[in-house]
Amino acid sequence: SSAPLVLGIESSCDDTAAAVLRDREILSNVVMGQAELHAAYGGVVPEIAARAHAEKVDLCVEQALEGAGVSLGEIDAIAVTAGPGLIGGVLAGVMCGKGLSAATGIPLVGVNHLAGHALTPRLTEGLEFPYLMLLVSGGHCQFLRVDGPESFTRMGGTIDDAPGEAFDKTARLLGLPQPGGPHVERAAERGNAGRFPLPRPLLDRPGCDMSFSGLKTALLRARDGMVAAKGGLTETDRADLCAAFQSAVTAILAEKSRRALEAAPDVTGFAVAGGVAANGAVRAALTGIAEARNVAFVAPPLALCTDNAAMIAYAGAERLKAGKTDDLDLPARPRWPL
Ligand code: KG4
Ligand code: ZN
Repeated sequence: SSAPLVLGIESSCDDTAAAVLRDREILSNVVMGQAELHAAYGGVVPEIAARAHAEKVDLCVEQALEGAGVSLGEIDAIAVTAGPGLIGGVLAGVMCGKGLSAATGIPLVGVNHLAGHALTPRLTEGLEFPYLMLLVSGGHCQFLRVDGPESFTRMGGTIDDAPGEAFDKTARLLGLPQPGGPHVERAAERGNAGRFPLPRPLLDRPGCDMSFSGLKTALLRARDGMVAAKGGLTETDRADLCAAFQSAVTAILAEKSRRALEAAPDVTGFAVAGGVAANGAVRAALTGIAEARNVAFVAPPLALCTDNAAMIAYAGAERLKAGKTDDLDLPARPRWPL
């Protein structure tokens, strides 16, 4: 095949990842998580993450090459996440990419992590431009109109917490394990969403901006009220609180998605990415919104919705196709809006 062989490297949050792609074919996709390193702290600790990335990134690359059955010499380009993210982690990946590029002369391509997520529906489904994308994870929540490999328009997003962060905080408040999303979803299945009316911040305002921090406060108040009245929470209380929370998040995401689609009437597809896109209730609601507008709903496989290096290699290949590479002075950026 004539398509370039691209090595991708990702280390911007709490997953160290490397992958090898040729075109849309994923030859290997290695993800080394850090959940156990951060578990005792109730969240990602940047210093611990940075050290773990620096320790694991070389091995990760080695495994990705081995898994793809290729040697470094056969690689046509090295794509690396250059931001946004936790700077220590981004630096670890960028330094690895630069080292490999300097040693071999293989071109280096810096990739925006958000562009990686936003182009994933093209990698997995070949989705055509223009499309609307909802990126909804532990760190991000935004609508992007995608018109080309480097043409993104932000159409609104959270003004405070990301929904995944809110799921995680909800789990913490109710004594459920981290990461909280899947546990809250499971508990919500048995719950009555109507028992605790939670607010739906910004739902009555025009536009596609969202807010989730008020939900957390309301949930805390409901929990403390019950603890004060009865001395603790029953399984039913927990399930009902989870159901109320999940239904509020789902309602906000669905209504704002409806508005974003209304504001982008020419798109043919609506795609989601990010860990929260794994949530069954959220997926079902968004599918309905897309169907109502006659737009294809695309939810890439979960392993490619969450942080990974295949999406970075893919976005890097798109930049390479456009003739863009970076020098060894490529900066690592903690903030880098699309
Ligand atoms: O995309 P991701 O793996 O990492 C980043 O944040 O970049 O997303 C992780 C987030 C966590 O907050 C996790 O609780 C949430 O996605 N999550 C879920 C579900 N699975 C993961 N939230 C709701 N329902 C789920 N089933
Ligand atoms: Zn991400």
